[in-house]
Amino acid sequence: MQINTIQTQAYSDQKPGTSGLRKKVKVFQQDHYLENFVQSIFSSLEESDNKSLVIGGDGRYFNREATQIIVKIAVANGFTDFIIGQDGLLSTPAVSHLIRKYKTLGGLILSASHNPGGPDEDFGIKYNISSGGPAPEQYTDDFFAYSQTISSYQIAELDDIDLNTLGEQTIGNINIRIIDPVDDYAELMASLFDFDLLKSVISTGKLSLRFDAMHAITGPYASRILEDILGAPKGSVINAIPLEDFGGHHPDPNLAHAKELAELMFSADATDFAAASDGDGDRNMILGNNIFVTPSDSLAIIAANAQLAPGYAAGISGVARSMPTSQAVDRVAKAMNLPCFETPTGWKFFGNLLDADKITLCGEESFGTGSSHVREKDGLWAVLFWLNILAKKAQPVSQIVHEHWAKYGRDIYCRHDYEAVDTEIANAIMDHLRSQLSALAGQSFASYTVDYADEFSYTDPIDNSVSEQQGIRIGFTDGSRIIFRLSGTGTVGATLRIYLEKYEADATKHAQDPQDALAELIELAEQFCQVKQRTGRVEPTVIT
Ligand code: G1P
Ligand code: ZN
Repeated sequence: MQINTIQTQAYSDQKPGTSGLRKKVKVFQQDHYLENFVQSIFSSLEESDNKSLVIGGDGRYFNREATQIIVKIAVANGFTDFIIGQDGLLSTPAVSHLIRKYKTLGGLILSASHNPGGPDEDFGIKYNISSGGPAPEQYTDDFFAYSQTISSYQIAELDDIDLNTLGEQTIGNINIRIIDPVDDYAELMASLFDFDLLKSVISTGKLSLRFDAMHAITGPYASRILEDILGAPKGSVINAIPLEDFGGHHPDPNLAHAKELAELMFSADATDFAAASDGDGDRNMILGNNIFVTPSDSLAIIAANAQLAPGYAAGISGVARSMPTSQAVDRVAKAMNLPCFETPTGWKFFGNLLDADKITLCGEESFGTGSSHVREKDGLWAVLFWLNILAKKAQPVSQIVHEHWAKYGRDIYCRHDYEAVDTEIANAIMDHLRSQLSALAGQSFASYTVDYADEFSYTDPIDNSVSEQQGIRIGFTDGSRIIFRLSGTGTVGATLRIYLEKYEADATKHAQDPQDALAELIELAEQFCQVKQRTGRVEPTVIT
């Protein structure tokens, strides 16, 4: 087979963010842009005898073309064995599982997660290592460094592979396996949850549900598992066909973007349970009849009830949450006498803790929940966990949530995002916040007194690597917090995220609207960061 060496020039902007390299499709379509980055990944990996890779994506525009290019560059770089989802499709958690199950060297995920898709929207690429988890920073730093000096890449002269037909294709010593994207994943879920019990309540209508796949990758997964296997009536999974542009929407499961589903659940037609997932299937939003469960609460409730699912009945080793995620899970961990870790934002920081079995469950406020079953967050897994809890407890979602709060107190929580802020203004806001930190402790503002104010830095307990500047924290003496950080996944300007959290132990106050309960903290946040004053905005772009 002919291998060609193509001369190229470095692009200065190939630094992976919170979750891989994300850019506009048009950026990826520039000459050699994708090729450079893929070559930078392969050239940075240590020599290994393992020449196998998993490849799949969320089906967004450019997924197929990118898959073909990646295979050709991988072949030129010595890879011989490929596991690829039919039509180039695989959810992010499914890729993680396949890497682990078939012991490949790693995998490439083509996705920009919840960002919109289409010719004028976003694309992304992410490398996952042999544990199944996202490449840690040591890797992504190397990818970026290589991309800065790259002068050529290698590409095999191959016909495009047939992505549509299941089965094996052999080209010389190259073996390509096109697999059903759902089979292995469905088998894994059946090993963790009580499918017989779930079927008995779902197929009989005792537990009614609605799942919004948002025209993205979980459509085929949810249709197979919820409808075909567990017997939910046809049509329980809506927006089930993955589209290259996600129907023109943001495939982001939150109250703003999954609005129809949210409206349904606060109407007379509400089902017992509803959920949505994002572009690549790793996020989840949980709703019950007349209630939205924050991702932070969802993690805490799953941890508190983990023993109800067969895969976790033997107990969990510990829990972790990202720093801006509410402290609800900490309270459960304390009561259960479990270790609890606080990590920087981004799933990659959970990898070492999961590998070392320091934790079994972890989650982020950004609609991400997961466990040691894979090394990514997993949307449908969280949905099945909730269904398993509901089936076992035979109680409505709202009762489970309110009883949880009554026992542990409620961490009233909300995130305000200011998107597409001018980068200079955003950096000035962060500098302004930093300049105040040393003087804040001990000062009182309205009914709050600052306990500590710092910039979060994390030392990984397993490999001792240090990650600095991971967000600004202002913690108050009553346990409330305001956190500020800049997004690492946006593709236009900067996004300022403000995370607001108020602890409320008094059960008579648990029914409050979060925006009312958090009003004072919201004002204080503006006082500290001046985002409205500096940008002229009057309100956040998105409130979740
Ligand atoms: C966002 C979320 C973060 C999540 C990441 C990838 O990153 O905040 O929790 O891990 O997407 O899904 P951010 O844009 O805040 O850097
Ligand atoms: Zn995602």
